[in-house]
Amino acid sequence: MSTPTREQIDVALAGVNDPEIKRPITDLGMVESVEIADDGAVQVTILLTVAGCPMKDTINRDVTAAVSAVPGVTSVGIELGVMSAEQRAGLQEILRGGQAQKEIPFAQAGSLTKVFAIASGKGGVGKSSVTVNLALALAKQGLKVGVVDADIYGHSVPAMLGVADYRPTQVEDMIMPVPTPSGVSVISIGMLKPRRDQVVAWRGPMLDRALVQMLADVYWGDLDVLLLDLPPGTGDVAISLGQHLPGAEVVVVTTPQEAAAEVAERAGTMASMMHQRVIGVVENMSFLECPHCGPEHQLEVFGRGGGDRVAGTLSQRFGYDVPVLGRIPLDLSLREGGDVGKPIVDADPTAPAAVVLTEIAERLSGRGRGLAGMQLGLTPTAKF
Ligand SMILES: Nc1ncnc2c1ncn2[C@@H]1O[C@H](COP(=O)(O)OP(=O)(O)O)[C@@H](O)[C@H]1O
Ligand SMILES: [Mg+2]
Ligand SMILES: [Zn+2]
Repeated sequence: MSTPTREQIDVALAGVNDPEIKRPITDLGMVESVEIADDGAVQVTILLTVAGCPMKDTINRDVTAAVSAVPGVTSVGIELGVMSAEQRAGLQEILRGGQAQKEIPFAQAGSLTKVFAIASGKGGVGKSSVTVNLALALAKQGLKVGVVDADIYGHSVPAMLGVADYRPTQVEDMIMPVPTPSGVSVISIGMLKPRRDQVVAWRGPMLDRALVQMLADVYWGDLDVLLLDLPPGTGDVAISLGQHLPGAEVVVVTTPQEAAAEVAERAGTMASMMHQRVIGVVENMSFLECPHCGPEHQLEVFGRGGGDRVAGTLSQRFGYDVPVLGRIPLDLSLREGGDVGKPIVDADPTAPAAVVLTEIAERLSGRGRGLAGMQLGLTPTAKF
């Protein structure tokens, strides 16, 4: 009988599925090498995804059976290795490309996690600053808080939380969210790029996959609150989010400026079209305390009325009350806190801006003045 060919062995190996992933081991990068001796002895090296894989005996048995069945094979030797981190990443890439997608826990019936999407019409209004400070203020209430930075243009949240250079740990097909000094966990779309300096044009299906990945592939555990920093405007992320997390509630951030208010209204309307409830408006950069006169003289640097205007328009448009949740003053220490990765709510909790942010967080969790017609009913799930 003639020596078996590599093609014959490959065909046989393609018939072996990984028992957990349920796809051919040849598609998953698990076949490291195949050696065929002249006498028909075949030596195969199989890479397991993790050391001590509980399925290794099954794989061993299935590979042996498949290769033994090839005509001309006189013996089968199998060596089991373990994938390197890089190879595991490659595997995950393969899995992501297919339909092997996990479910989004926050979209399941009975999920106890409150999801708030922080939206704005345009960039630079303080959306990310509001997101991280609300996250910290909620965490200070004893709630378990996660932040998803979905802003494809900015992804500034990790830096604001002091974990700019952190890369998430991957354990097989699970991504661990990055813990921050304040106890809030974060994952950023910027962390999903293969390399930090890589420029990715996030759009359409790829963007949708990235969002699903941050929600489904990240091991969030039992969160009380998940905050999402959305990109400004009414683009693809808003649509994807509406499809995957229709139960998310939206907070619209605007400045007092007329032009900002107008685009903020559009962002709010977009959310409503995606069947998400807009629960309130945050007016940021509302005023600057006069350095000469003190609190009684507020300098309206960016004009006035933006928050009221957005709240009024959206209330009328949707037929339910969309309140102004708070007005955050301009505060130098708020910007500084963001720049050095120590948000003002932690770094300077008695600063006027921090006080307003804390009040907004209390309204969101239902601990402050309640939101009209809403029953948030949050309680900490922290288990010790
Ligand atoms: N209330 C505020 N007072 C002072 N600086 C602020 C305030 N809100 C935001 N900033 C600063 O304005 C800039 C833009 O804020 P950022 O949160 O990044 O906006 P966005 O996420 O909407 O683009 C940042 O440098 C931030 O520190
Ligand atoms: Mg931002
Ligand atoms: Zn003055």
